[in-house]
Amino acid sequence: MAATVPVSEVKSNTRESRTAAHSHIKGLGLKGPDGRADTSGGGFVGQAAAREACGLVVDLVKAKKMSGRAVLLAGGPGTGKTALALAVSQELGTKVPFCPIVGSEIYSAEVKKTEALMENFRRAIGLRVKETKEVYEGEVTELTPEEAENPLGGYGRTISHLLITLKSARGTKKLRLDPSIYEAIQKERVRLGDVIYIEANTGAVKRVGRSDAYATEFDLEAEEYVPIPKGDVHKKKEIVQDVTLHDLDVANARPQGGQDIMSMMGQLMKPKKTEITEKLRLEINKVVSKYIDQGVADLVPGVLFIDEVHMLDLEAFTFLNRALESPLSPLVILASNRGLTHIRGAPNLPPSAHGIPSDLLARLLIIPTHPYTPAEIKSIVSTRSRTEGLQLAPAALDKISSLGEKVSLRYGLQLLAPASILAKVAGRQGGVIEVGDVEECEGLFLDAGRSAKNLASTEGFIA
Ligand SMILES: Nc1ncnc2c1ncn2[C@@H]1O[C@H](COP(=O)(O)OP(=O)(O)O)[C@@H](O)[C@H]1O
Ligand SMILES: [Mg+2]
Repeated sequence: MAATVPVSEVKSNTRESRTAAHSHIKGLGLKGPDGRADTSGGGFVGQAAAREACGLVVDLVKAKKMSGRAVLLAGGPGTGKTALALAVSQELGTKVPFCPIVGSEIYSAEVKKTEALMENFRRAIGLRVKETKEVYEGEVTELTPEEAENPLGGYGRTISHLLITLKSARGTKKLRLDPSIYEAIQKERVRLGDVIYIEANTGAVKRVGRSDAYATEFDLEAEEYVPIPKGDVHKKKEIVQDVTLHDLDVANARPQGGQDIMSMMGQLMKPKKTEITEKLRLEINKVVSKYIDQGVADLVPGVLFIDEVHMLDLEAFTFLNRALESPLSPLVILASNRGLTHIRGAPNLPPSAHGIPSDLLARLLIIPTHPYTPAEIKSIVSTRSRTEGLQLAPAALDKISSLGEKVSLRYGLQLLAPASILAKVAGRQGGVIEVGDVEECEGLFLDAGRSAKNLASTEGFIA
């Protein structure tokens, strides 16, 4: 099947064409001021009560009333727990940190598990720093490095000064700057016609964008055009920065290299950052609290999502308990598909609900997710096939939906992609998936139940 593709039909890689398992989920899909869930919305089908509950959680996070608490999404596999957590993050927007991990991620040979948990806790706590700074801001209309003989002799010349002219709506200003700023300017790739600001105290340079006077119709570059700044070149400007506590930890753990050659060598020889220690974190917490008290910074508690939480062991759960008590704590969303089971690493304790110790269970708000009705499964399958850009014949849709019902939703959804390949190989018009393709796939790929039956009848693989 050698199809020719007319060039005009080649589309760029839009989001639709990427297929991650949850790419059809765009939000919780709640309506109105009271946040009711319709039967479907935001790519979500059914599960209305859980969606409404998650909507409340979103409201609480936005009102900053949710830090130090934890929510557990509990329900069978394929009932949309992970999808709900992702929808919560989409509802919160990009300014609220969302840190998703899987329980098993904390076990690594190099890092202690409590350390790994701590790091993720701090990734989920944001800080919005507002600072009024004295800056020079404008469009660069002149950028001339002034050279001089190297004062130490030898070859080459050094830059003695940088002449830069900035233009704003109210006038222009010519600045004579220290050569160290020249490096910063080169790092930000500033050219003539860019809008930049230079912090008066630190000399830090930030490129805001390209002046819109230079905007042309046929610019292929991904460039952000900004208007020429209002007001004077020399002024006070409020600068807002969003960082997470983990960003601060990392930034402060890195060896503070200066401009001189020795410290540069030091950085080359010791590329590993120094460790983030408990002491460093305490210090950072202190500074952060001071900023918050002074009104310089706002705490933005975000969300830490721990999927498959039954993979955590007693030690990790104890740590979770303690971390939730701390004043700097995010909302923690846990998800588990286990019922009554042993806590990992504690086979001697009696089984506990969801594999979570009872003292943590007592703190949790538990949101149950329920199995889907056949109609809901059908609707999810067709939403999903639309997202993957696949066409299903009605009989094929019925077949996949019934597999989703009898076996599992995930198994049904997973057959979509291979079935579409069979449909393409068959060279059918428009690649429509027929019921035969699905049946063939069902024969090719076992589900867990049939695979287990297989094993039982062949007495296992290793003789
Ligand atoms: N209510 C729903 N609406 C739309 N898609 C859903 C819904 N519930 C689950 N899905 C999709 O079904 C698949 C399995 O769900 P998932 O969230 O991974 O289940 P769980 O985490 O509970 O095991 C995912 O592709 C998910 O996006
Ligand atoms: Mg999941």
